[in-house]
Amino acid sequence: MDIRLLRSSDIPLIQHANLENLPENYFLKYYLYHALSWPQLSFVAVDVSRPAKTPYDYPKIVGYVLAKMEEEPTDGVQHGHITSLSVMRTHRRLGIAEKLMKQSQQAMVETFNAKYVSLHVRVSNQAAIHLYRNTLKFETEKTEPKYYADGEDAFCMKLDLDFIK
Ligand code: ACO
Repeated sequence: MDIRLLRSSDIPLIQHANLENLPENYFLKYYLYHALSWPQLSFVAVDVSRPAKTPYDYPKIVGYVLAKMEEEPTDGVQHGHITSLSVMRTHRRLGIAEKLMKQSQQAMVETFNAKYVSLHVRVSNQAAIHLYRNTLKFETEKTEPKYYADGEDAFCMKLDLDFIK
C-alpha cells in the first residue's frame, strides 16, 4: 500500500470512493478546491499490488482523506479540518485510515502551523468513532443536533496537535 499526496487527476476516483462509502457527497469542484488551496493536506492510499500495465490504466485508489485549513476560524486559532475520510470495504481494518489521518495531521502542523484538527462524525458511526477516539485520541467537544441532511446528530471532535513538533 502506498500513501501519497492527492493529485488533481485522482479526483474522479476519490469522488467515486466517496459515493460508494458515504452519504455526504460533493461536486467535483469542491474536491478541486481542496487540492488547489491546500495541496499538502489531502492523501490517497493506492493499492500497488496491481501495478498499471499501460499508461492509460488508473491507479487503484482504496482510500482517501480530504482535508483543509479552516479559512476564518471563529476562535481565531489556526486549525485544520477533515472534510471527508473513507476506505473501500475490501481494504478496511488494515490501518489505512489511521495512516491517512496521521499524514494529514503531520502536514497541517508542518505546513500551516495548525494548533488542532477538527471534524464531524455521525453519532451512529461506530467504526469512525473508534478510529478517532480510541486510535487517534480525538476528544468530543460537543454534539451538534441534526447536523446531517437526514436529521442525524454529529459529534464535533477535536485533536490538539501540540504532540507533533
Ligand atoms: N468497528 C469498530 N472498530 C473499527 C471498525 C469497525 N467497523 N473499523 C475499524 N475499526 C478500528 C480498528 O480496529 C482500529 O482500532 P485499533 O487502533 O484499536 O486497532 C481503528 O478503528 C483504525 O482502523 P483502520 O484500519 O485504520 O480503519 P479503516 O482503514 O478500516 O477505516 C473508516 C475506518 C474510515 C471509518 C472506514 O470504516 C470507512 O471508510 N467507513 C465508511 C466511511 C466513513 O464512515 N468515513 C468517516 C466519516 S467521518 C468524516 O469523514 C470526517
